[in-house]
Amino acid sequence: MADPTGFPLRDTATEHYDHYSAPLMAPFVTAVIEAADLFPGAQVLDLACGTGFAARAAAAQVGPTGHVVAADLHEGMLRIAARNAPRMYPDIEFTLAPADKLPYPDDSFDAVVCQQGAQFFPDLEAALTEAARVTRPGGRFTATTWTSPADRSPYFAAQLKAITEHGTEEAEARLATSLSCPADRLTAALTTAGFHDITTREVTFAIAFEDFADFAAGHLSAVPWGQSIEETGGPAAFAAAAKTIRATLTPHTAPDGSATLPFTATLTTATLPTTT
Ligand SMILES: C[S@@+](CC[C@H](N)C(=O)[O-])C[C@H]1O[C@@H](n2cnc3c(N)ncnc32)[C@H](O)[C@@H]1O
Repeated sequence: MADPTGFPLRDTATEHYDHYSAPLMAPFVTAVIEAADLFPGAQVLDLACGTGFAARAAAAQVGPTGHVVAADLHEGMLRIAARNAPRMYPDIEFTLAPADKLPYPDDSFDAVVCQQGAQFFPDLEAALTEAARVTRPGGRFTATTWTSPADRSPYFAAQLKAITEHGTEEAEARLATSLSCPADRLTAALTTAGFHDITTREVTFAIAFEDFADFAAGHLSAVPWGQSIEETGGPAAFAAAAKTIRATLTPHTAPDGSATLPFTATLTTATLPTTT
């Protein structure tokens, strides 16, 4: 059987994922939710929700008359997502499910959003066909995926350098998966799935990290390629990899230890036709 996820994070790392990914993901979450054109009362699916950044942003937009469902196949991620769910909108519903086998009826959602998830689906076409099935005719699909290759982002380039020096082929493959969904691949899969009016554009945000040394090590511990470095080389290899990331990005780091780095993602939108 194919590996059900390209993002096999240890359960114990989900807290770190939530903490360290939050500043990095925040403006991309805003962009992917804005592109979904949500409205009060809308029914929304956050596909591959992780710890629920996009689900919470969607809940704020659709309000108490709307409904947000968040699906992921990682139990640990869903646990944190449920814990973080705002009490104001108690009806965010969390579902343990793989993207290509969603337990919802046809035509359930006005919008499906997928924030940095599509690149990890083992069968992208099957997952998007499932997304099309659960979207109502005329409904929207929006996604962000990191741009590829890594040299578009100094941060991912530094992570790649750290893997080359201290990691293994497995760690390199894990990072490559994270950067493996450029616009043309996602567009082709959405077309196969039956979506129309597909648009893609690059969005770049400068992300500020107050304590970049803390971020470099913390974030590396919360991604599968960092875990792979540690599993293979132990704590010494992990510490050396984090040091390489810091050293590589010294030109971006201020004397007080803060750093501001650009990140670029492809923002994709698509619509399900009203007639087939
Ligand atoms: C990089 S995280 C992104 C999570 C979240 N959307 C965010 O913005 O932080 C990728 C997520 O995709 C989920 N994932 C990977 N493969 C999946 C699959 N086949 N079905 C459902 N979720 C999947 C992982 O468990 C993980 O939570």
